[in-house]
Amino acid sequence: MKKARIIGTGSYLPEKVLTNFDLEKMVETNNEWITARTGIQERRIAADDEMTSDLAVKAAQNALEMAGVTAEEIDLIIVGTITGDFPWPSTACLVQNKLGAVNAAAWDVSAACSGFVYALASAAQYLQNGHSKKALVIGAEILSRIIDWEDRNTCILFGDGAGAVVLEAQEGDHGILSSHLHADGSHWQLLYQPGFGARHPASVSGIEQRLPFLHMAGNEVFKVAVRSLYDVAIEALEANQMTAKDVHLLFPHQANRRILDAVKKRLNLEDGQMYINVDLCGNTSGASIPLALDEANRKGMISEGDVLMFDAFGGGFTWGATLLRW
Ligand code: UT7
Repeated sequence: MKKARIIGTGSYLPEKVLTNFDLEKMVETNNEWITARTGIQERRIAADDEMTSDLAVKAAQNALEMAGVTAEEIDLIIVGTITGDFPWPSTACLVQNKLGAVNAAAWDVSAACSGFVYALASAAQYLQNGHSKKALVIGAEILSRIIDWEDRNTCILFGDGAGAVVLEAQEGDHGILSSHLHADGSHWQLLYQPGFGARHPASVSGIEQRLPFLHMAGNEVFKVAVRSLYDVAIEALEANQMTAKDVHLLFPHQANRRILDAVKKRLNLEDGQMYINVDLCGNTSGASIPLALDEANRKGMISEGDVLMFDAFGGGFTWGATLLRW
């Protein structure tokens, strides 16, 4: 069976930087608290005229350029996002149009911070079974548009950005070795956007109740995140008869430095085995893993044959891991 191999990566971060010191002027917080509790120093915020599809297109164009692939050659586009331009149509369709990827089927995956890993696992299936030849998988978010900028529990955490990969179905040992996806919908209320879907349609009273904004019970999410990120990483390693020592670089969802340190410790990873950029990007939800991957790739930190792992956790709850050989 063919494997889905990443042949190009790309990313895009909006220009505007929002530092912890900027946040000190907006809510009752301080740089010391944010740095100590999250490891985040700054995050990027999209310009008013930038949409999620714009960020996604820029990341995709970078990835296509690296892969040496034209938009017309792409036959599948999957975007992991929870902050698409519209509730519908999908952001993937908008990206398909802006790129001129006229031969591609396109849809979004809604798995919150696990969106990229879920989208990647879906695309891998289409590539492995011969249904698709070249796919574009994108994680793109403008979380700043669904953040309550008066809620210090959440507004300090999130940032905007996009990351993308071009995948090709190839014979051989390189590519995605396995994907492991999980969900537990019983925790949906711990991390969600209450309005405005079918349960709470748009209303003035809904705005007064701040329903359109992200809601998170941070402490409870934290504990489940550490356990799930660890469990699914072990599951992926065991499925491939590997140990954490075999992993050249692990790309976790960049949620919070303390979560990542706890997972690193439990997995017994050496310094340098886990790629972390939460300090400068914050939590960009579905965009965080492909953003980090592209950063590391462009720094020359990944070589042919390296074993990589993506490890994600997010609202739903959803979680998942991908193990691949570069
Ligand atoms: O993307 C995937 C899902 N998301 C996550 O994985 C996020 C998981 N959760 C977290 O990252 C952390 O729970 C937070 C960073 C959100 C919060 O950190 P924490 O260590 O769990 O803090 P806490 O919620 O237990 O709050 C401790 C104290 C509280 O004060 P009291 O009640 O002890 O007096 C909060 O009111 O810190 C207070 N606090 C703040 N203080 C200054 C909460 N936010 C802030 C703030 N600045 N921004």
